[in-house]
Amino acid sequence: MMNNNLPSITEMIEALALISEDKNLLTRRYLTSQHKKVNELVAEWMSVAGMKAWQDPIGNIVGRYEGHENGLPALMLGSHLDTVVNAGKYDGMLGVVTAIHCVASLERQGKRLPFAVEVIGFADEEGTRFKSTYLGSKAVAGTFDLDTLDRLDSDEISMKEALDKFGLNTENIPNAARKKSEISAYLELHIEQGPVLEENNLAAGIVTEIAGATRLTIEIIGKAGHAGTVPLHLRQDALVTASECIVKLEKIAKASANTVVTVGEISIKPGASNVIPGHAKFTVDLRSSENSIRKKVENELQQALQEICTNRKAKLITTKTHSAESTKCSNNVIKQLENAFVKSGYPTYFLPSGAGHDTAAMSDLTETGMIFLRCRDGISHNPAESVKMEDVEAGFQIMLKFIENFQPL
Ligand code: GLV
Ligand code: MN
Ligand code: MN
Repeated sequence: MMNNNLPSITEMIEALALISEDKNLLTRRYLTSQHKKVNELVAEWMSVAGMKAWQDPIGNIVGRYEGHENGLPALMLGSHLDTVVNAGKYDGMLGVVTAIHCVASLERQGKRLPFAVEVIGFADEEGTRFKSTYLGSKAVAGTFDLDTLDRLDSDEISMKEALDKFGLNTENIPNAARKKSEISAYLELHIEQGPVLEENNLAAGIVTEIAGATRLTIEIIGKAGHAGTVPLHLRQDALVTASECIVKLEKIAKASANTVVTVGEISIKPGASNVIPGHAKFTVDLRSSENSIRKKVENELQQALQEICTNRKAKLITTKTHSAESTKCSNNVIKQLENAFVKSGYPTYFLPSGAGHDTAAMSDLTETGMIFLRCRDGISHNPAESVKMEDVEAGFQIMLKFIENFQPL
């Protein structure tokens, strides 16, 4: 996997892990100075690997390795470079740096193919900053919703302002969209983020589909008051109302097959030990492999929340911040992946993804597929994320075989 002057995959992962908003944890949100820094570093690696690199109008970093002649349609490889708060080192980044190493290998062998190869590091997949997801890949797929530009982050900075500060002009965002004729397929390598491959003693697997997700922001408005004087039955406590809502959400999701729900953020105001909370705000992340089930559960939980708030005389405000349909990977790409697994000496194994991936957004543009790699104890979105180097080597070999044998569809 070594290339002259190109850091190894491990060295790249370690270098990216140091670029964080918080020196004690790995957090790298969209349109921060850390985002800019990783783009510069990844662009440098892309150049060393033999690619022409550029930053697109939404802030993705892209590298292109021409085929037999310039301008041919491309096989696109990649994943994302943003992270959740207190992230692991591999979620997203591993797919980008492995792809760069595959191109470096082609370049080292002096191999040009009957198609171009592009590597992309998507700017925002997690939605950590603006509570959406797939911002980078949606822009490339041509499905970016311009209304997202008005979204505010936790410091009340809009996405539009953040883009300006980053040096990107919002008017150019539509130019990030690629034409269907330019991209033949998109392949993403990613850690599994779950325990199935490990349980089955397998280094890698082929993804069949990606679960859909809905994200909501829930605000509950009660009435702040004195903690010592207002009898319990006369209160409109926003936090107690929120607590009842959260327990109910879990109950509803448990009663529905293949459905999970998570409240990952909550805040209350005014936030003092002797004041009844007058305002509570929390996020809801709802996922299911079946679009119809997710929609049914979404309706059910909205009704249940309204009922609880009405009973407790609190006002409920619900905002949908994100919605993604569950998406199947392309049969054509899956077949070619099967071939790459066999040719590289790895058993084929098929599994769905409960997590979201840029692949889902890219399926609006082109044929898509994913390689999952085993990760320790299935842990992800956690600094304990860990992958064996021999599994990374497996992923690299499979991806390289896929590229070398790729038949544009
Ligand atoms: C991305 O990691 C997601 O599934 O939230
Ligand atoms: Mn993630
Ligand atoms: Mn990811």
